[in-house]
Amino acid sequence: MDLHELRRNYDQQTLNPGNLRSDPIQQFREWFEHARATDSASWFEPNAMTMSTADQRGRVSSRILLLKAVSEEGFTFFSNYQSDKARQLVENNQASLLFFWPHVERQVRIEGTVVRTDAQTSDEYFAGRPRGSQIGAVVSRQSAILPSRDKLEADAADLEKQYADKLIPRPDFWGGYLLTPVRVEFWQGRPSRLHDRFLYTRDGDCWQVVRLSP
Ligand SMILES: Cc1cc2nc3c(=O)[nH]c(=O)nc-3n(C[C@H](O)[C@H](O)[C@H](O)COP(=O)(O)O)c2cc1C
Repeated sequence: MDLHELRRNYDQQTLNPGNLRSDPIQQFREWFEHARATDSASWFEPNAMTMSTADQRGRVSSRILLLKAVSEEGFTFFSNYQSDKARQLVENNQASLLFFWPHVERQVRIEGTVVRTDAQTSDEYFAGRPRGSQIGAVVSRQSAILPSRDKLEADAADLEKQYADKLIPRPDFWGGYLLTPVRVEFWQGRPSRLHDRFLYTRDGDCWQVVRLSP
């Protein structure tokens, strides 16, 4: 397989101090809304992000998660509290989030520390999920070895019966996480690999912004 000739030139847009917000959360929101509004492909999930974690010994691991909220506090997502990522976060609460929106030739990199959201936030989100997703979250021992697909489906069917006509409560092993950012970088593809990059770093209550070399 020869990948040498697989390349594109990026020439859609520019990023410069004049069109940058002073707050990276505002800047993220603006880019997110733009990414969402400009691609209607049925497969496109603008809130799909790569989340990377590392354990105490430095083993790094990445996976896609869905961003579910953005606020001045940070970025919220939901997962299993006994999964591989959860174990890594217990050992090392530093993580990164990465968004790639190819149709607008943009990347956003976010680094920060992760804590569990409060139970109420998790309860509210869980309660609003489709029933099938609730069942999936309850029966999945995420990241554990599963003897067979049949076992998973049988567990889901059993749970469905057990909770017929009843609300399914959020299990305590499933809930939200909040990543509080300390570094946020916005990358805009430009021709000839002379891309625009701006890095925000937290400085007390303020953010410092610098342009980085591509
Ligand atoms: C598009 C997409 C969205 C996903 N969203 C989530 C999510 O929001 N939460 C989650 O726990 N896993 C989600 N997953 C599954 C994760 O990528 C991963 O397989 C799972 O969280 C187990 O990861 P771990 O073993 O590193 O803990 C998603 C996968 C894809 C491809």
